[in-house]
Amino acid sequence: MLILGIDTSCDETAAAVVINGKTILSNIVSSQVDIHKRYGGVVPELASRSHIETISPIVEKALGDAKIKVADLSAIGVTKGPGLVGSLLVGVSFAKALSYSTGIPLVGVNHIEGHIASIFLEVKVSFPFISLVVSGGHTVLYYVKNFGEYEELGRTRDDAAGEAFDKVAKILNLGYPGGPIIDQISLKGNPHAVKFPRPYLPNSFDFSFSGLKTAVVNYMRDIEKLGHFPRKKEKEIGIADIAASFQQAVIDVLIYKVLKGAERKNVKRIVLSGGVAANSSLRREITEKAKDKGLKVFIPRPDLCTDNAAMIAAIGYHYHKRGIHASLDLNPGAYLPL
Ligand code: KG4
Ligand code: ZN
Repeated sequence: MLILGIDTSCDETAAAVVINGKTILSNIVSSQVDIHKRYGGVVPELASRSHIETISPIVEKALGDAKIKVADLSAIGVTKGPGLVGSLLVGVSFAKALSYSTGIPLVGVNHIEGHIASIFLEVKVSFPFISLVVSGGHTVLYYVKNFGEYEELGRTRDDAAGEAFDKVAKILNLGYPGGPIIDQISLKGNPHAVKFPRPYLPNSFDFSFSGLKTAVVNYMRDIEKLGHFPRKKEKEIGIADIAASFQQAVIDVLIYKVLKGAERKNVKRIVLSGGVAANSSLRREITEKAKDKGLKVFIPRPDLCTDNAAMIAAIGYHYHKRGIHASLDLNPGAYLPL
């Protein structure tokens, strides 16, 4: 079965064609980074306008690259939320119009469920497993029993981890989006140079990253007052060291919670997804630490961690197979927990 996936939840216009929720025939992602860069974050109004201009050519390209016609599709899966409501509306309206004009069934997909399912585009993972969805908009830990059966163990109480990466990159004047830049620059820094706080929140699976972000702000303010970078063991602490130290604090907390979740639920498999799961140090460290505990970690390749429509088609397939379709009154929701 051929499924068209469409995602316009944030600042990427994405369309993909996937066979049976597994084999990717095309996966097109049009990034709006250049539009939002100078504002240091996503401007919702500009995002919606850009989606309107891009959606039609992107879907055409996805079909063209897959070498199929609209009539070959079994279903259209579209992200119905969570996300920026003006952006979501563009994808949902487009998908509804396409479904109405062709008679092809429509499936409304939860974006977070798409992230969780992204691993199935690469490998088969047996249920149950612990899933950490960690991106610019979400940081949520789930116990996944089956498709559609998610027990939320914890979530962020303030900033998402990716949001913290983006904000800290802004504070350090590193550019936008911050995650990939901090990932790269941290490779040249010492992650133990600055002791930033680790918000472990004992007895809870929740996360909190805003205090850590404030700690970086205060650290930079102190440097400004001092007039120069401090020294540690005769070595000057530079931006790469500060970035690496911040990144290490985030990674330590994420890994701690994921391993605790696996222990609590007594599961042997861990799945990571979302933009922050593309982080090279996080990937390396969690794989090593989990191995020590006899656990297996599954992380999609980086371009399937960040927002894409192949993951929407992947989960859309499972709903289509079960005959669960959306009607033309499908409406997007900005806040849509699983
Ligand atoms: O999944 P995603 O594309 O969109 C959301 O659903 O939010 O995630 C985007 C987020 C951004 O905050 C970006 O800075 C972060 O993921 N990100 C990374 C890396 N690549 C993207 N964070 C850390 N390291 C990376 N390599
Ligand atoms: Zn996402």
